[in-house]
Amino acid sequence: MSSSAQPWPGVIRRYAQFLPVTETTPVVTLLEGNTPLIPVPRFVDAIGGKFDLFLKYEALNPTCSFKDRGMTLAVTKAKERGAKVVVCASTGNTSASAAAYAARAGLRCAVLLPKGKIAFGKLAQALMHGATTISIEGNFDEALRIIRELGETGLVEVVNSINPVRIEGQKTAAFEICDTLGDAPDFHFLPVGNAGNITAYWRGFKEYHAAGLSDTLPKMMGWQAAGAAPIVLGHPVEHPETVATAIRIGNPASWQGATEAVAESEGAIESVTDDEILHAYKLLAQTEGVMAEPASVAPLAGLMKCIAAGRIPAGSLITVTITGHGLKDPDTAIKVSGVTPQTVVAEKQAVLDAIGL
Ligand code: F0G
Repeated sequence: MSSSAQPWPGVIRRYAQFLPVTETTPVVTLLEGNTPLIPVPRFVDAIGGKFDLFLKYEALNPTCSFKDRGMTLAVTKAKERGAKVVVCASTGNTSASAAAYAARAGLRCAVLLPKGKIAFGKLAQALMHGATTISIEGNFDEALRIIRELGETGLVEVVNSINPVRIEGQKTAAFEICDTLGDAPDFHFLPVGNAGNITAYWRGFKEYHAAGLSDTLPKMMGWQAAGAAPIVLGHPVEHPETVATAIRIGNPASWQGATEAVAESEGAIESVTDDEILHAYKLLAQTEGVMAEPASVAPLAGLMKCIAAGRIPAGSLITVTITGHGLKDPDTAIKVSGVTPQTVVAEKQAVLDAIGL
């Protein structure tokens, strides 16, 4: 590092002027944020696009998902208020992040997870960071209902995105995109589950625009899984199902924020099937070397549909949030890759044969 280089301070210190913090706020950070915006021209060629596409690769946050941006602020504010226990419901990533930041802050953490529907890597994170990990015999929406009730007891600090500071922290991803590109993109694509992130990005893009730090605003394009698409259908889904367990949600908490983002930006929220998700999942991994979890590629599957429908003008600038790392869900990766390692004798010729050389 050259002597003039400033080390990255994490999203709270970098964007303090846009966040509800003061000089004396006890910042709890793992130096999240500052994630790369990766150009993916081979993927664009493979899907027949005529535009520039960049992935905001949020997998490179400390717990490997975008949740760390909101969690640094939620746990910081919990600490500032003197809370002792933080709690959340989660499809996996929020719990991983809450557990890590609570450990960092020296707070207790309890997480409520839908039994059997958590990707293995995420479960490992919650357990390893020492969170009290509770599986409920129900889905995410039921877990979140219980968390709301726990919040009302005053005994715990809720760090789901029903806590407004989560959205505040998450909006910093939109700031970073504008800082890197020099302006907002024409379209921003992202997955929609509990709908906090689409709400956060839209707020971020609007605040940067209002502050004169960007000239344009993107159209917000949100993607739900077809089996868990309440916003697309216009009513809650009682039994949501999708391979993309991160967005297996039937009654999103930030429903209104999502519909406002779409209406104000003249964007859309639509759905993609599990087959479309898994196709995009493998294609991205194999054309670009970028591994995302299934929920994260729902917007890429959506982009492919938009191209087929002629909805993307040539020359557009498009950004997509890759919300979580592919290693979060190794079971799905191994299943979808469709191959198993070959075993051969420990000899050169056997290896050449196996490679086909
Ligand atoms: N992608 C991933 C990888 C997620 O973990 C989530 C949400 C989303 C997309 C959707 O974002 O909820 O803001 O619309 N995961 C939450 C959790 C629900 O508990 O980890 P959203």
